[in-house]
Amino acid sequence: MIEYKFIANNLNDTKKLAKKFAQFMKTGGCVCLYGDIGAGKTAFCREVAKTLGVKEEITSPSFVILNEYKTGIVPIYHFDLYRLENEGVKSIFDELEEYTNSNVVTFIEWAQFSNLKTPFECINLQINYLDETKREFIFKTEFEKYNSIIRGLSNNETIML
Ligand SMILES: Nc1ncnc2c1ncn2[C@@H]1O[C@H](COP(=O)(O)OP(=O)(O)OP(=O)(O)O)[C@@H](O)[C@H]1O
Ligand SMILES: [Mg+2]
Repeated sequence: MIEYKFIANNLNDTKKLAKKFAQFMKTGGCVCLYGDIGAGKTAFCREVAKTLGVKEEITSPSFVILNEYKTGIVPIYHFDLYRLENEGVKSIFDELEEYTNSNVVTFIEWAQFSNLKTPFECINLQINYLDETKREFIFKTEFEKYNSIIRGLSNNETIML
């Protein structure tokens, strides 16, 4: 397991981080986002999507569960599982698995609400609220194909755990 930690002092730092991360998502990828309400999961996804060329406004999928964006260089599926019960999660599992095995970007906020083991490969992003504008970002993965992204983010100074 390797990880990369980054402290954003303000929203602008978060945007810079997201822009860098987006460079690794041009051919697709799956990101599971964890962190409290207001941590910045949607804010991060918004900036990644914008960098990938999405033209329309990127809004929180909290109420609709899924937002799709097709105007960028790669299709983007942005999920928020917060309001889904376990049965609901089962119903979208096939979709999730299909997306994560294709050349699309999938963001899953509140992935832990599935209460089921995610059946697919992803990079995990934990965002911790430090103060009003300060956030800690921790990228982790147990999957080989995402290791290079973590190394790339840290300019190859990755902490091996
Ligand atoms: N450094 C920062 N990084 C990200 N967001 C920040 C930062 N500083 C302030 N913010 C603000 O924090 C809020 C983050 O809200 P956001 O909707 O992204 O949270 P979320 O983690 O998606 O919450 P939810 O669980 O409700 O979906 C935004 O209002 C954003 O402007
Ligand atoms: Mg959100």
